Amino acid sequence: MRFLISLCASAFLCAAQTPPPAATQASENGRVVFRIYCAPCHGIHAQGGRGPDLTRGTYAAGDTDADLHRTIVSGVTGTEMPGFPDFSQNIVGDLVAYIRSAAQREPPQIKGSFKDGEALFWAKGGCGACHKIGSKGGTLGPDLTRAGRQRSYAYLLESVVHPDADISPGFETITVVTRDGKKIVGVHRGYDNFNALLVDQAGKFYSFDKNEVTSAKQEYRSLMPGTYAKLFSPAELDDVLAYLMTLKGVQ
Ligand code: HEC
Ligand code: HEC
Repeated sequence: MRFLISLCASAFLCAAQTPPPAATQASENGRVVFRIYCAPCHGIHAQGGRGPDLTRGTYAAGDTDADLHRTIVSGVTGTEMPGFPDFSQNIVGDLVAYIRSAAQREPPQIKGSFKDGEALFWAKGGCGACHKIGSKGGTLGPDLTRAGRQRSYAYLLESVVHPDADISPGFETITVVTRDGKKIVGVHRGYDNFNALLVDQAGKFYSFDKNEVTSAKQEYRSLMPGTYAKLFSPAELDDVLAYLMTLKGVQ
């Protein structure tokens, strides 16, 4: 470690090396900042979690240092990726250096066939009943049009085999009991002081006046069936995951 830093102090040596050195002072600083601010979503080694794997070396938001800079400062509008406008240029530079150093690992191989996965998604899995891809599919679950861009492989795999493990924000299960004793289990689609909007497992919408509701309970379990690890063979699961990883959003 110390050896590398002193080598890099003579900048020419560093610049001439391909691939670049695994760790520089900048990437080390970046690693520390990353652990605090980014690891909760991108994982402790930048290999992804709820946010995408950043070690693949190629980025949907753009591959140049300037693209990474912009993404970190401004975030990605309309996604969970926040901006960090208060970070100094130096800190952002350190983060970019860290991401570059983390990206020198072999990218993980995706085993399955995405074509077979696509067929499984719409037919055997019945996933389209609850998930939209592009303009096709249901709305009970999150839109998966950008799943491969937004999430890591590990997160998507866990979402399919253990839906209860990490409930996607805004998709918690809610059980409403009405004054006349009806019980509706669904995902809420809006909640204010007067109304509750709910969509149930069959995709049916309910709108309640709060006065008609005797109880509304939010639960941290998923309405997604927890049976896919049994329904699919391991090879089929690989295929479905391969398909999800190709979903990068409509142009
Ligand atoms: C709350 C979760 C969260 C936090 C915290 C977070 N990110 Fe992200 N990040 C995401 C998500 C989700 C995306 C994918 C956005 C999309 O759908 O394009 C993303 C995308 C990115 C991308 C672009 C990836 C690509 O392929 O286009 C970079 C680079 C990035 N984040 C870096 C960082 C850094 C550096 C930090 C810390 C300073 C950070 N992120 C903190 C969730 C997060
Ligand atoms: C009965 C409706 C339903 C079906 C069928 C269903 N899901 Fe889901 N899915 C949900 C709901 C609701 C959530 C959000 C709660 C959670 O995180 O589990 C979800 C979450 C997910 C997520 C996490 C999305 C994110 O961005 O956080 C993925 C990935 C996913 N489902 C994939 C699938 C796949 C693949 C299939 C078919 C093999 C499938 N789902 C079948 C309802 C469903």
